[in-house]
Amino acid sequence: MADITVSLTRSMTTDVQINNGAFENALVAHKESLWMYDISLPSAFIKALNSQIDPDHLIGIAPGEPAKSWDGLQTIMTRLDALDITPDTPVVGLGGGALCDVVSFAASVYLRGLPLVLIPTTLLAMVDASVGGKTAINTTAKNRVGSFYPAQTVIIDSHFLTTLSPERMAEGFSEIIKMAVTMDATLTEALETNALDIDAIIGQAIQLKAAIVEKDLTDQGIRRLLNFGHTTGHALETLHDYAFSHGRCVASGMLMEVADPPLKKRLKALLDMYECYAPIPYEKAALLEQIKTDKKRSKQTLTWIHLRRIGHAELEEIVLTDLAQYIPRYEEL
Ligand code: GLY
Repeated sequence: MADITVSLTRSMTTDVQINNGAFENALVAHKESLWMYDISLPSAFIKALNSQIDPDHLIGIAPGEPAKSWDGLQTIMTRLDALDITPDTPVVGLGGGALCDVVSFAASVYLRGLPLVLIPTTLLAMVDASVGGKTAINTTAKNRVGSFYPAQTVIIDSHFLTTLSPERMAEGFSEIIKMAVTMDATLTEALETNALDIDAIIGQAIQLKAAIVEKDLTDQGIRRLLNFGHTTGHALETLHDYAFSHGRCVASGMLMEVADPPLKKRLKALLDMYECYAPIPYEKAALLEQIKTDKKRSKQTLTWIHLRRIGHAELEEIVLTDLAQYIPRYEEL
């Protein structure tokens, strides 16, 4: 019997709306949806939710990484089971990156997929977690269980940013700078000269990410450019037992991953301008060991993101035994 090919396509489009005040509009437009929200959001936002949305349709989620767990998922599933959900019942996720990850995962598997709307409330979630469809919960390792399930709608309201600490803003800017220096010299220059307002910066960062995920949703190739600063940054995070924020570790990671001195100087000046960089000490041997542990797999190589010049980076497969040549000692950073 001949082989049979089953050609499957699935239409996936994300509509990203950027508008200061969009949250208020969303409360009206998505009044009948199920809202899953971070219970640690500032009280004004919780009050607005409570005043507009039926309490049965509100599911409060604990803040941060603890919600991205089997227990967190079970809590969501139990609430969904208690409601009269049909496959066309939309879920709205309102919160930061961790909330977007777990709510998106729940939406991707409940009834084999519910319509998903994300309203990110941190700069980092606006430019990263909410766009591109990566969903996740943690096992003993971060983001080990997940799916690719892009939101149908992402609503960006920069009003949320007025409530964030400078440290949380810096986390988002770290990722924005990462996208600018690897993919867009013009955006880098605009950041250096403070030429754009925050909505324009967010819009341009999302466009950069969109262009990547449209080509490589499932992270087989070019999407790995988004890992610039993350190979070393993640290892730094783990080595210090998550005592330093992801954004701060990625800022150090980006500097570690750039070899060329003038390029490193320019990158550092930009990270300093947005208060993203503060030194995090490390011991090179321990960092190398951690990276190799993170990458535990049969493959003896990893994908290194080589920043060639501002606005252009390339992927390079390097053998793990050569990794030491790519990473400076802390004193050389
Ligand atoms: N945060 C990296 C990615 O979306 O691929």
